[in-house]
Amino acid sequence: MKGLILSGGKGTRLYPLTYTSAKQLVPVANKPVLFRVIEAIRDAGITDIGIVVGDTAPEIQAAVGDGSRWGVCVQYIRQEAPLGLAHAVKISRSYLGNDRFVMFLGDNVIQGGISSLIRQFATSDWHCQIVLKGVTEPQHYGVAELDGDGRILRLVEKPREPRSNLAMVGIYMFDLHVFEAVDAIRPSWRGELEITDAIQYLVERGYRVYPYIHRGWWIDTGKPGDMLAANSLVLDEMEHCIEGLVDADSRVEGKVSIAAGAQVINSVIRGPAIIGEETRIVNSYIGPFTSIYHHTTIESSEIEHCIILENCRIVDLPARREDSLIGRNVVIVRSPIKPRAYKMTLGDNSRVGVL
Ligand code: DAU
Repeated sequence: MKGLILSGGKGTRLYPLTYTSAKQLVPVANKPVLFRVIEAIRDAGITDIGIVVGDTAPEIQAAVGDGSRWGVCVQYIRQEAPLGLAHAVKISRSYLGNDRFVMFLGDNVIQGGISSLIRQFATSDWHCQIVLKGVTEPQHYGVAELDGDGRILRLVEKPREPRSNLAMVGIYMFDLHVFEAVDAIRPSWRGELEITDAIQYLVERGYRVYPYIHRGWWIDTGKPGDMLAANSLVLDEMEHCIEGLVDADSRVEGKVSIAAGAQVINSVIRGPAIIGEETRIVNSYIGPFTSIYHHTTIESSEIEHCIILENCRIVDLPARREDSLIGRNVVIVRSPIKPRAYKMTLGDNSRVGVL
């Protein structure tokens, strides 16, 4: 069995963070979402993984390489434009050959326990298996309607009036019949070849397509609020591990991970929280559900329920920073220059809430 990860697309909903980087590389609990997906496939015993890439190919290739770090063999499949998930399957045909495969969306984070399902599909005679999860706003996803016996009746992509609360999770298992389906379907109203339509085609032709209802949590990290939610859920499951330096004047409470080379000086870290490599926390408070990535400095500031990426400098904040997603190389400092005023250099589509 092979793995196929979809890591193309433009990530417009995570702008401005994804102007300069691939959305699949934004870290959740200090590990890029794409790395979590690779690990989930590897843990199911799959070693051949194809990654579909678009405009952000160089960055993804630089981050993932040939996959040897995970003990897998990664090959890249170039998609010239994000023409849909089924289009991504279509262009991966020569890579996949006649093998059964699991397709994972590179921006989905799912709570463990999916490996046995993938292994089971590898040896089954099913043509396709999909993963479903009950959600409160199904209209943002592909939605499945099942009959009283749990068989799939219908699948619709982002329906205005969903017929159930069962969203399609971004994990799909196929055999080669999916190629017949992706060749047969036409682009949707949003101009994409939808994988939902391809699976609906398989259902209508009587192929064996089975749903699995996932009981753990699942997050599609396409939007900033979802990113923070995924971060909190993953942090909550993390192990306590202190490798960096915590000085005698600091206090670390609850589950906290402090990476090698990090320094915590005269500060309070209240977990669950994670501090990245070579990051310095000085005279500060870091509250629950916060991830601070590598090579960042936080000084004389209070931060809670945030994701802060690498090489940032946050110094002397007048108020506690909460519920924020802060990109790479961001500097937030108090300026001594008069008149006292907020002075900001923000990228397009940035959002700032001030007092
Ligand atoms: O997250 C689950 C949902 O994912 C499903 O419920 C929907 O049925 C499914 O269509 C998909 O919806 P999204 O609108 O969230 O898909 P998105 O455009 O965000 O793309 C998902 C991933 O696939 C993302 O990592 C980018 C990549 N992608 C996307 C497209 C359209 C590609 O690699 N190529 C593409 O052409």
